[in-house]
Amino acid sequence: MTRDIHNIVILTGAGVSAESGLATFRGPDGLWEGHRVEDVCTPEALARDRALVHRFYDERRAKLGEVAPNAAHEALAALDRAWDGELLIVTQNVDDLHERAGAKRLIHMHGELKSALCAACGKAVPWDAALPPGSVCDGCGKPALRPDIVFFGEMPYRMDEIDDALGQADLFVSIGTSGAVYPAAGFVQTARHHGARTLELNLDPSAGSFYFHESRLGPASLLVPALVRELLA
Ligand code: APR
Repeated sequence: MTRDIHNIVILTGAGVSAESGLATFRGPDGLWEGHRVEDVCTPEALARDRALVHRFYDERRAKLGEVAPNAAHEALAALDRAWDGELLIVTQNVDDLHERAGAKRLIHMHGELKSALCAACGKAVPWDAALPPGSVCDGCGKPALRPDIVFFGEMPYRMDEIDDALGQADLFVSIGTSGAVYPAAGFVQTARHHGARTLELNLDPSAGSFYFHESRLGPASLLVPALVRELLA
């Protein structure tokens, strides 16, 4: 597997954090099951019921204190430390488990629970506690802080860097994502178009399984450490 692999891009989704106890979005106990996406994860929802949106993300931020990285996060952090080629972990997740495992070369394309964004001046600040509506930005002084989450219809973060990495990748690995949401769901096609080998690690076949050279089905806590051992052999 490792023959002539230097540049790796890894995409993770909610499935990589499932075994840490964080709900995925589209499973039977999925996060969205409790809420309609339109009610908590759109700019319109923020305008319509700000308190509900802030409460939804406050609950998810508070939950982070009850969970820990699992073997998949640990293995990816070990790969990040040991891999001497280019490596980029792009996560759709807004939890902090990749960082807590030690990953450094990481992009949160959908934002982060542990950050607050000023809707007035665009400044993002680290945020651990509850974020009540009307919280004041220490940059511009306006009561305009919101959860630093990319809502449906908003542009994911750092797409230029991600596209550059996909264009140079020799290996693209997708871990724990249903392939339901673009642009992340299209990364496999971009990487493959530029000549990368493409590999999917997932509990179930995803909407994009067809596009991968190889799919391995099973829990991330088993498949990811095995892949990292293979890459570092
Ligand atoms: N190991 C590996 N994969 C798993 C595990 C596990 N232990 N548990 C669940 N999965 C897989 C499921 O089979 C599913 O394909 O993880 C995937 C989770 O899919 P979703 O719940 O749709 O989450 P995700 O793909 O990350 O959603 C993408 O959609 O709602 C938006 O912004 C939100 O970032 C999210 C995006």
